[in-house]
Amino acid sequence: MTASPENGTSRPAGASSALVRSLRALVSAERVLTRHQDLIVYSYDASFLTRLKPGLPDVVVQPQTTAEVAAVVAAAAEHGVPVTPRGAGTAQTGGPVPARGGVVLDLSRMNRVLETDLDNLQVIVEPGVVHATLNAALEPQGFFFPPDPGSSQMCTIGGMVAGNTSGMRAVKYGATAEYVLGLEVVLADGTVITTGGLRSRALKSVSGYDLTRLFVGSEGTLGVITRIRLKVIPVPERRGVVMAAFCSIEAAGETVIDVFRARLRPAAIEIMDRTACRAAMLHVPGLVLPQGEGVLFFQVDGPPPAVTYEAEKLAAVCRRRANHVEWAEDPARVNALWQARAVVGAASGRVREEATRVCAGEDICVPIIQVPAALAAIQEISRRHGFPILTYGHIGDGNLHAAPLIDMRDLAEVDRAHQAADEIHRLALRINGTTTAEHGVGLVRAAYMDEEHGPALGVMRAIKKALDPAGIMNPGKMGLGREGRG
Ligand code: LAC
Ligand code: ZN
Repeated sequence: MTASPENGTSRPAGASSALVRSLRALVSAERVLTRHQDLIVYSYDASFLTRLKPGLPDVVVQPQTTAEVAAVVAAAAEHGVPVTPRGAGTAQTGGPVPARGGVVLDLSRMNRVLETDLDNLQVIVEPGVVHATLNAALEPQGFFFPPDPGSSQMCTIGGMVAGNTSGMRAVKYGATAEYVLGLEVVLADGTVITTGGLRSRALKSVSGYDLTRLFVGSEGTLGVITRIRLKVIPVPERRGVVMAAFCSIEAAGETVIDVFRARLRPAAIEIMDRTACRAAMLHVPGLVLPQGEGVLFFQVDGPPPAVTYEAEKLAAVCRRRANHVEWAEDPARVNALWQARAVVGAASGRVREEATRVCAGEDICVPIIQVPAALAAIQEISRRHGFPILTYGHIGDGNLHAAPLIDMRDLAEVDRAHQAADEIHRLALRINGTTTAEHGVGLVRAAYMDEEHGPALGVMRAIKKALDPAGIMNPGKMGLGREGRG
């Protein structure tokens, strides 16, 4: 423990008092936090891991400008102290929680939309802009940033870029990386660079190495993202939803393949298993979902006649195997059908009294034809460990969110949840999938990097060493160096 709660002041260890003094000189003193009760807030994200083992920073800085970020990083580098960037803390991997103390850079105050250049299909934003806030500002003007994460109301664009997150519309529109045209990044020595061209407003470029893509998904291990040039596209005129329930998970999985074979390209294809449907119905009074082992939700979008055509065709394809199909394009009905998918994350704890949904093994992605086998294997893992695991997710990409529901007071069960998560990760690798499709590696999946990447992990480590030779940028994450805490 490095802070002293008794007197409300601090005795930083990882960050020396000399560093804290210079941080206070660089950034106004009220935006340099060292009191224990302030630091505690930053010792968690939404992961199971940090719930059990929080990671306390020595000092939190809340910069408001790139110049402040650069000055803070340069000062930390001078003192050899780690820097961990943080957005809204919605991560489920321990990524924004320091593994070895030091400085946490809370970027949530850098939350301005700097330019809205819609004629050139782009906006320039600071990293702390909340996803839903950006789209709420853009949609009335006829544009949007398509990725649609479950945490849209909270998560920041900077966090989405750092993790290359996506959510529900990646089937048709791709992940965040597809939309990042350029970045301003503060490197580990405090140097500021612009990727994608210093003054560029171009929508394409092959000039030089694709540094933008390198920083997207780097989870704060290579630098701090301080500005994002983001591509936006015209918002579809209409959206529709098709919902279909199936007697077997296999039939739901086969239907996804049928849909692509029928040359349909929905914006989103989501699945909820039987337990996930039960959770949603317990959470929303009056919500009735059709009976089935699995329910598929499709989002279709485009000009009105195209939405009608695609929804009808999708419904016809679903009817081959489904026991219940309905579709809607009236906005109120669309929202009613989509509501179950929208609430499932928050609802998941409902199916077991006094249980907590833990984020562990929660983001595997498998080849689409393996989805039914993966869902069956997760059910087997659930039975063997003796707690429910409900599953939902972006089946159109093969991306499944498994949610173990455990009694946190039962230490043996907590232990079995770790085992179950490990089995789920290993299952994904065994069937040619990945341990994470959109949530990231952070601390919790660092142990799988070697098996997942082989010698390519050595190249990642070489890049890390070239850009951050002293290893101060979010150390202990992504299997790039010494892992763990301490
Ligand atoms: C979702 C988050 C958990 O899809 O990725 O709801
Ligand atoms: Zn998701």
